[in-house]
Amino acid sequence: MSTSAADITAEVLRRLETTPDPRLRRIMTSLVRHLHGFVADVELTEAEWFEAIRFLTETGQMCSDRRQEFILLSDTLGVSMVVDLINHRRGGGATESTVFGPFHREGAPHLPFGGNIAAHDGGPPAFVEGRVLDLEGRPIGGARLDVWQTNSAGLYDSQTDTPDDLHMRGVFTTGPDGRFRVRTVRPVHYQIPSDGPVGGMLRATGRHPWRPAHIHFVVSADGFEPVTTHIFDAGDPYLASDAVFAVKPSLVATFVEHATRDADAERFGVTPPFWTATFDFVLQAATHA
Ligand code: BEZ
Ligand code: FE
Repeated sequence: MSTSAADITAEVLRRLETTPDPRLRRIMTSLVRHLHGFVADVELTEAEWFEAIRFLTETGQMCSDRRQEFILLSDTLGVSMVVDLINHRRGGGATESTVFGPFHREGAPHLPFGGNIAAHDGGPPAFVEGRVLDLEGRPIGGARLDVWQTNSAGLYDSQTDTPDDLHMRGVFTTGPDGRFRVRTVRPVHYQIPSDGPVGGMLRATGRHPWRPAHIHFVVSADGFEPVTTHIFDAGDPYLASDAVFAVKPSLVATFVEHATRDADAERFGVTPPFWTATFDFVLQAATHA
């Protein structure tokens, strides 16, 4: 009797039975089942198999300390969001998480209440303010907000011609009332890097590379689970088609335009036009396993 594909799958699975670590055994067994099942399902040709190897090789070659093409591949295939959803099942009104993305950097300046992360940017001023709260609605003082965003041209600092400078980033700490205020510029939609294999995949599948306008936050406080998240601009045309599937309705905030001198202009000491948005972050208590 001639050998079948199912015989090979069965033999690979049989050899994995000796994997000492039970978690690794479960992962490898499922991976092989799905991978073999996928190849059989699409009846992969040898040319397609070579093309897949070439694509993955190019993805690895594109990676450096400034570029992580594999994370971008995971993001654009929705895998990062599925991992996020499985690992951060938050309930009771805690702020939902979303992708971390590849553009966070350590060493952002610590800024006071109302500090400006966009001091070098000429875009329209925006003020984002709110509170950090626990699940009972009590303010959390001393909470830390690590904030980053693109400039108003849609580029992160590491993508500009001065990639070593830290711009459009800051670390804020709430007072005893849990309040924070960030001065920035209105976020814009921007394209994820699409000059590599991931860009090729997006074009080949008829997809666009745009992310809706957003501001990144990691919010943390002693005794609470930290949350990695974004605030999205409710007016953005790409909210329903984010290239990395990261939009959750609870993370969408309205940016209000202030075209004339008003009470907020006085409060912030700014000349119109400018924008404001409010957003409260809710943290759940840390679980000690
Ligand atoms: C970002 O929002 O910075 C981002 C997230 C995923 C992929 C590329 C960029
Ligand atoms: Fe981003």
